[in-house]
Amino acid sequence: MGNKRKVVLFIASSLDGYIATKEESLEWLFSVEGEGDNGFSEFYDTVSTVIMGKRTYDWIMSHELKEFPYVNKDCYVFTRSVVEDKENVEFVSSDLPKLINDLKNQEGNNIWIVGGGELLQTFLEEKLVDEIIVTVAPAILGKGIPLFREGDYQLNLSLKRTRTFNQFVELHYEVNK
Ligand SMILES: NC(=O)c1ccc[n+]([C@@H]2O[C@H](COP(=O)([O-])OP(=O)(O)OC[C@H]3O[C@@H](n4cnc5c(N)ncnc54)[C@H](OP(=O)(O)O)[C@@H]3O)[C@@H](O)[C@H]2O)c1
Repeated sequence: MGNKRKVVLFIASSLDGYIATKEESLEWLFSVEGEGDNGFSEFYDTVSTVIMGKRTYDWIMSHELKEFPYVNKDCYVFTRSVVEDKENVEFVSSDLPKLINDLKNQEGNNIWIVGGGELLQTFLEEKLVDEIIVTVAPAILGKGIPLFREGDYQLNLSLKRTRTFNQFVELHYEVNK
């Protein structure tokens, strides 16, 4: 691989910047008419590592009834508790910058930050994000779980591309370093 692996946030948000309602519902997202899989499989093919916070993991486990969806990728779930690893998932509470640095020095494709907003805050404060792809749903929620929490970070971005998938708009940015 010529280029270093990139850390990419790929996530869907309401127009007012929420990733779920307070009750963790995604109905406002799943009810939107998109196009195909809204770029998901194209993106998914570019990653070999998946990272998420424990609440996102718990949401997936309580809604994806058949099996964990990311079995063919290396998957890390961040938690401050001690949780026994599962067949396809490593639970980590260690130093996030160190993990990312180690991963970037290993062979592999890109690293996907699945979410949610709480884990993302650490990525942003530690300046660990290389690219941001937000798929905006045509909904305003008024309140909910924020994509971008208040925190000690400020990033300047360069727009790489915009695309639409019927009712969705995909915004693809590179983080200026
Ligand atoms: N719209 C979308 O595309 C999308 C994508 C992803 C998620 N979501 C939704 O977002 C919601 C969850 O987001 P969220 O912001 O509430 O939570 P989250 O970031 O998914 O998870 C928060 C948990 O992760 C752990 N954590 C976070 N930062 C950490 C750090 N720096 N070090 C160690 N552990 C850390 C903690 O786990 P412990 O409490 O176990 O210590 C914390 O309680 C769910 O409803 C999910 O469905 C939506």
